[in-house]
Amino acid sequence: MTKESLAHALLDKLESFIREQNFGEDPKELYEPITYILSLGGKRIRPLLSLLAYGLYKKDPETILSQASAVEVFHNFTLMHDDIMDQAPLRRGKATVHEKWNENVAILSGDVMLVRAYDLLLPTPPTLLPKVIRLFNKTAAEVCEGQQHDMNFESREEVHEDEYVNMIRLKTAVLLGFALELGAILAEASEEDCQKIYDFGVNIGIGFQLKDDLLDVFADQAKFGKQVGGDIISNKKTYLLIKALELAEGDDKDLLDFWLTQSEFDKEEKVQAIKGLYEKLGIRKKTEDKMNHYFSEGFRQLDTLHFKNEDFYQNLRKITEDLIHREK
Ligand code: IPE
Ligand code: IPE
Ligand code: MG
Ligand code: MG
Ligand code: MG
Repeated sequence: MTKESLAHALLDKLESFIREQNFGEDPKELYEPITYILSLGGKRIRPLLSLLAYGLYKKDPETILSQASAVEVFHNFTLMHDDIMDQAPLRRGKATVHEKWNENVAILSGDVMLVRAYDLLLPTPPTLLPKVIRLFNKTAAEVCEGQQHDMNFESREEVHEDEYVNMIRLKTAVLLGFALELGAILAEASEEDCQKIYDFGVNIGIGFQLKDDLLDVFADQAKFGKQVGGDIISNKKTYLLIKALELAEGDDKDLLDFWLTQSEFDKEEKVQAIKGLYEKLGIRKKTEDKMNHYFSEGFRQLDTLHFKNEDFYQNLRKITEDLIHREK
């Protein structure tokens, strides 16, 4: 099998597996949003990481489709709630669940998705289940911690770069680490490799969120699927804004302070003004450098693993490298 067709074949199987799930039917307001959000696509990067990590060590990654899907269902639950918190109108090119239904629907539907994620982890062999659940619970709590920091930072004037990295490590990166370690645990890889592949995931996860922050400002709206400029509108302390606050002086500083303190404004005008400032201050390049640093660190760790299957390694490497250049 060629390099990429291996990952594509796994993605096809994953897609069918997710499509065939019956999450529940009645009341329809509880269950329809689940099918809705899961049918909007998405990159499926997390479950793919689980399958590829498993394949590094053991044959037949399709035997863990259920556990891999658990990670995707959990991820989609966090998106449903994140979109309420971020007041986001668009997800994967379609109306967000709280816009299409309402906030209460998005809260409860999200809650039941978390429960369904546990159901999907159940086919794990009993000897491994406690370990998997323990790591999953740790990760899920950390994602909530990261999300709360993210919300807290919106109204804080100053956020240090290290606090930002810690916040995105929690809200985003640990789930990529979990996805990878899950695959490795289920394949009964060594403790050492489980830890290393987790660390690899956390590093590329930090790079992944830096890219997400970049796309939020610079993506092509037609390809992005989310509202471009959403982070600017809500004063998110992204790496871009933190750097701009650090570098802006004189009129630039006044302009930045003006937009950050306006409570009523024309959204498009604010987005264009801040975006212009980012361009003027060379923020894009600085963020790309930071992102590349974390990806490189991740790849360095990936290359210290003791795996058996070279094809899976090549696929994992390619799939993660592609994240650097993604457009959505
Ligand atoms: C979006 O995740 C949320 C972040 C952690 C940045 P993805 O970029 O993986 O979104 P989908 O699942 O592909 O839509
Ligand atoms: C989301 O970060 C992280 C989680 C969903 C936990 P963002 O708020 O940047 O994700 P998007 O951009 O809405 O996908
Ligand atoms: Mg958010
Ligand atoms: Mg969001
Ligand atoms: Mg984002």
